[in-house]
Amino acid sequence: MRTPIIAANWKLNKTEAQALDFVEKFTQLSHPRTGVEVLICPPFTALSALNKALVGTNITLGGQNMYCEQEGAFTGEVSPSMLKEFCKYVILGHSERRTIFKESNHLLNKKLAAALQADLSPVFCVGENLEENKTGAAAEVISTQLRAGLVGVPVNTGSELVIAYEPIWAIGTGLSSSPESANTLIRNVIRPILAGLFGRHIADKIRVLYGGSVKASNAESFFRQEEIDGALVGGASLDPAEFNKIVQAVI
Ligand code: PGA
Repeated sequence: MRTPIIAANWKLNKTEAQALDFVEKFTQLSHPRTGVEVLICPPFTALSALNKALVGTNITLGGQNMYCEQEGAFTGEVSPSMLKEFCKYVILGHSERRTIFKESNHLLNKKLAAALQADLSPVFCVGENLEENKTGAAAEVISTQLRAGLVGVPVNTGSELVIAYEPIWAIGTGLSSSPESANTLIRNVIRPILAGLFGRHIADKIRVLYGGSVKASNAESFFRQEEIDGALVGGASLDPAEFNKIVQAVI
């Protein structure tokens, strides 16, 4: 059994005060649920305050990015051990990092290894763009992203790595993938590649989330799919009531 994760990716949104306000409202609304991990990935500037505010809740924190070096002359970057002070998870390879900030598979491979070495669980994002989807290249693109990102990365039990399948054309567009086609892609492409890299036993334990325009009204249709172990939620995670409905939709 894989424990589902419902992850909020706040991107470049919320000051520290706004983040604290969200958490206050969300924890009032949300009935704590067993068997679901709730993860919030705020901007770095809100991590310390949220870390204190979340003591005694079952909500965990994640970073939205990090650098692959532990220290040194890397102006503007944040290291794995800096994140580890507050976080259990770190999102790596989000399509916005790949496209806007030109992060390569090679760099992501180093970041994944560095995260695991610091005992942070990466939420490693993969997904095809619209043209790749239309030309039937999705499987090939995702396969390359997974193999290049994960080569040589020491995944020992499966519980320390999370994959997020996020079709780029579905991110922030209101156009989500059909739950069935996301499920098929995870079953036929993502999980066999993970099995090839780490063995079937470990691959079966790796949580694979869906991301791309998940909202309260469609969340349950994704969570009904056998291969989908939760969601990475952007826009709909900014509102405590909407995010709570998504968490409560886990079956
Ligand atoms: P979205 O973003 O839910 O706003 O589509 C998802 C993501 O980018 O992780």
